[in-house]
Amino acid sequence: MTEASSIADIFALTRKLQAEGRDIADLSIGEPDFDTPDHIKQAAVEAIWRGETKYTNTDGTPALKKAIIAKYQRDYGITFSPSEVVADSGGKALLAVLFRTILQQGDRVIMPLPCYGSYHGMINILDAEIAGIPCGIEDNFRLSPEKLAATLAEQGNQARVFILNNPNNPTGMVYSAAELRDFATILKNYPNIWIILDEVYENLVYDGGRYASLLALAPELRSRLIVVNSISKTYAMTGWRLGYALGSTEVMDKVRSIMAKCSANPCSITQAATITALNGDHGYLKNWQESFSARRDKIIAALRPFPQLRTITPQGGMFLYYHCGALLGTGSIKTSSNLAAYFLHAANVAVVPGAAFGLDPYIRLSLVAPEATVDTAICRMTHAIQKLV
Ligand SMILES: Cc1ncc(COP(=O)(O)O)c(C=O)c1O
Repeated sequence: MTEASSIADIFALTRKLQAEGRDIADLSIGEPDFDTPDHIKQAAVEAIWRGETKYTNTDGTPALKKAIIAKYQRDYGITFSPSEVVADSGGKALLAVLFRTILQQGDRVIMPLPCYGSYHGMINILDAEIAGIPCGIEDNFRLSPEKLAATLAEQGNQARVFILNNPNNPTGMVYSAAELRDFATILKNYPNIWIILDEVYENLVYDGGRYASLLALAPELRSRLIVVNSISKTYAMTGWRLGYALGSTEVMDKVRSIMAKCSANPCSITQAATITALNGDHGYLKNWQESFSARRDKIIAALRPFPQLRTITPQGGMFLYYHCGALLGTGSIKTSSNLAAYFLHAANVAVVPGAAFGLDPYIRLSLVAPEATVDTAICRMTHAIQKLV
């Protein structure tokens, strides 16, 4: 049985099986099934016809930066200058450059686990290390101030970055303003640490919840805060490739310098469309939020009869993270990768094993796959689990 453990592996294997004619219900990938809103597509078409098809400034056009700055002024009343803003071809590319800018060999990056799987590769390639803080289901998937304080104290001078992805991929947990203020109180005591806020899921918060950012809550940390955001999830623009960061000019100058050596600029047409996206109406998000949370509830209800799979209802994000320890040890299924392989090969359902996110034994299920895919996947999974238990 072919196994795959990283998201890229699962993605590639799923595509290969689909190309061979297999009908796979894919809950592995994290991209909204909704199409990019029409007004944004229209802005891209108009940009092409205006001739905005040439190289731009490496870190984004002045007009794009203006729209990004306006967003943060609008959302939090915080003013950034253009030198504090950088746009690149996706949040992922930007995070990789940021780490390269900040980290030296042997530095430690502190983060709650599970985490966005791509952090590992970006950090390890620089010979830096992740000092992960396990926050499993027994912790309600939440980092506590006590654990953060203990880890910072333990890591001492080697700790260089604290990264908080909120709402979290893969657990969907959303930190409250009170929790964030507690983190800020602790982080104040560590003036040499950069704080990266990965806020790419900021608009995917459910059940009427509100998103809070350390940016607004802890002005005293402002000089060390770097916010990373992306158009991928909020505007269903995963293929358009644009991410941006806001933070100290000192760091952003270095980011620009690396970007200039590696790439020219984010796509000019995407930049024009992003201006319309950022400045435009966000009313459609309510419908998306309701639709995604309904799919979340449907999956949870379908899997509830199986106590071997346990999760906590996510308040945001795009995924459900299920503890699957009680299903391991059945037959040849010993790891979460074995279980994911079982679902893929025996039930034609693609999920991602927890190894990809630094905390096991879990599997991650997407709640933003098309409704019909979700229906098929849960039907197939429940049959497959019944055969195991
Ligand atoms: C937590 C997190 N950060 C950053 C990204 C990067 O997004 P993109 O490169 O599509 O902008 C992702 C993508 O899934 C993510 O889950």
